[in-house]
Amino acid sequence: MLKTEINELHSVLDWVRWGATRFAQEQIFFGHGTDNAWDEAFVLVMSVIEQPWDVYEKVKTARLTIAEREKIFDLYERRINERLPSAYLTGTGWFAGFPFKVNQDVLVPRSPIAELILKGFEPWLTEPPGRILDLCTGSGCIGIACAHQFFNAEVVLSDISESALVVAEKNIGFHKVKDRVTTCLSDGFAALDGQKFDLLVSNPPYVDAGDLASMPAEFQSEPSIGLASGEDGLDFTRGILKHAAEVLNPGGLLVVEVGNSCEALEQAYPHISFLWPEFEYGGHGVFVLTREQLLQAE
Ligand SMILES: C[S@@+](CC[C@H](N)C(=O)[O-])C[C@H]1O[C@@H](n2cnc3c(N)ncnc32)[C@H](O)[C@@H]1O
Repeated sequence: MLKTEINELHSVLDWVRWGATRFAQEQIFFGHGTDNAWDEAFVLVMSVIEQPWDVYEKVKTARLTIAEREKIFDLYERRINERLPSAYLTGTGWFAGFPFKVNQDVLVPRSPIAELILKGFEPWLTEPPGRILDLCTGSGCIGIACAHQFFNAEVVLSDISESALVVAEKNIGFHKVKDRVTTCLSDGFAALDGQKFDLLVSNPPYVDAGDLASMPAEFQSEPSIGLASGEDGLDFTRGILKHAAEVLNPGGLLVVEVGNSCEALEQAYPHISFLWPEFEYGGHGVFVLTREQLLQAE
């Protein structure tokens, strides 16, 4: 294929603009870290020139080398033809303002729980948690962001996937939190050996069969074990609700994302008063319950 654009497009801005046009024409899906064509192109261009996003105004008129233009062109081609989310192409996903290493063994970080972490889970947590469990951790983004927010907390990152925990370990090293963040290979709570926590936070698999069948191609590149959770999307969450009170210390808090499965959850547990926080920056379907509410519901 003749890449005429390599010679016609010169500046950082030229390439972001052209990428945005191409992505809009090709109707790629956004939702793995960006929500529009411009930002998607921007992320890819900035990764190729290895510059932080906040220098864009300074570099937007700078000319790119031929080698840089070829790299950007190839990334755009892969984004369109393979429908790979840009985080897999750059190797970095962003969560709660922090970069996380990602590959196709983990989901691209995007949980709205980030917003709750940055607010310190207020008003539900009244004091900083001493021990935190990030159940179904994937890249470790939720637990590691919690470790940044609560700088004295010990955090356990658990997942059933060995390859996901390899990525989580890399992020522990990258974020320099090895002294208080550990990983645990576990099917649900099975290998946690009676450990207790003040905060249990989880973005488990929760996609129901209907949603799974109709998801855009971008989701096919993510590990299916991270998405599917039975007919109504609640297979894993049922286990959390059954065991969470045993794992939480008195005064402890449970925070779980269930996305579109929130309606099915309300129907399945009519006796539980789930609290559903609203999100300023988008997202829905995260519930908050205290240990005391869980005990009352038993
Ligand atoms: C929706 S992903 C979330 C990943 C990460 N917490 C995030 O927000 O990006 C769900 C994760 O649950 C893990 N998982 C699936 N079944 C599990 C099980 N039975 N026990 C523990 N983890 C499980 C998957 O490997 C995947 O990493």
